[in-house]
Amino acid sequence: MTQDLQGKTAVVTGGSKGIGYAIADALAAAGCNVMISARHADEVEEAARTLSDQNPGTVAGIMCDVRKHDDVRQMIAATVERFGGLDVLVNNAGVGKFAAMGELSPDDWHRVIQTNLDGVFFCCHEAIPHLRQQGDSWIINIASLAGKNPFPGGAAYNASKFGLVGFSEALMLDVRQFGIRVNYIMPGSVATHFNDHTPSAQDAWKIQPEDVAELVMTLVRFPSRSLPSRIEIRPTKPPRK
Ligand SMILES: NC(=O)c1ccc[n+]([C@@H]2O[C@H](COP(=O)([O-])OP(=O)(O)OC[C@H]3O[C@@H](n4cnc5c(N)ncnc54)[C@H](OP(=O)(O)O)[C@@H]3O)[C@@H](O)[C@H]2O)c1
Repeated sequence: MTQDLQGKTAVVTGGSKGIGYAIADALAAAGCNVMISARHADEVEEAARTLSDQNPGTVAGIMCDVRKHDDVRQMIAATVERFGGLDVLVNNAGVGKFAAMGELSPDDWHRVIQTNLDGVFFCCHEAIPHLRQQGDSWIINIASLAGKNPFPGGAAYNASKFGLVGFSEALMLDVRQFGIRVNYIMPGSVATHFNDHTPSAQDAWKIQPEDVAELVMTLVRFPSRSLPSRIEIRPTKPPRK
């Protein structure tokens, strides 16, 4: 039996644009309450307003830098206070820095690792007590094919996403008996603002954010006895090299 999402509550980090926005949109359209978050308060507010206008679900936004444990604590507390619980945590917020080791500064390293790894840990740490109470809930981590394919210039990003894969698998084993299903999605190139990119018509060959959202919707509707835990998705026809 597929899951009815009406009235469930989700948090989507990095929900102001790109993949996170598309996931929030799809969850809200299915009747979920959704809390989106990101660092830029104006963008969060604007995205939450647009999503609320477009979807029957209830969407709210909050400024949260996932690198800051206190921000994350407040985001989860505000979600539970506003919507009465938490069923789905989507750890989507992430950044990339692509530079050879000689050009990679300690600040670059910390920014990538703290966002892509510490941030996920903080969100899980704060969310799990609430997810446990629901007894049938999800943690969905947006990893990357960079979590299995190293490439030159990828030292920080590869380390963060390989780390996220290991974290997700161990977490899955820790919490599945509580009814919390942990999944991680590993996309290839997605047409978003990632790494200061501006999406354009040239990106038509890439995965679109809505395609990743479609996967998330399949997961949260999956029969609760089964746990798809790792999903890879890549463009069907990338440009020939
Ligand atoms: N695009 C791709 O090709 C691709 C491929 C594989 C995996 N991914 C992964 O997909 C996820 C989403 O990326 P995207 O492609 O949608 O990029 P995007 O368009 O740049 O969106 C990133 C989102 O994360 C937020 N964010 C960044 N740092 C944050 C922080 N410290 N705290 C809270 N929010 C933060 C951004 O908002 P603020 O700047 O306002 O904080 C924004 O909402 C990332 O984890 C990325 O690694 C992307």
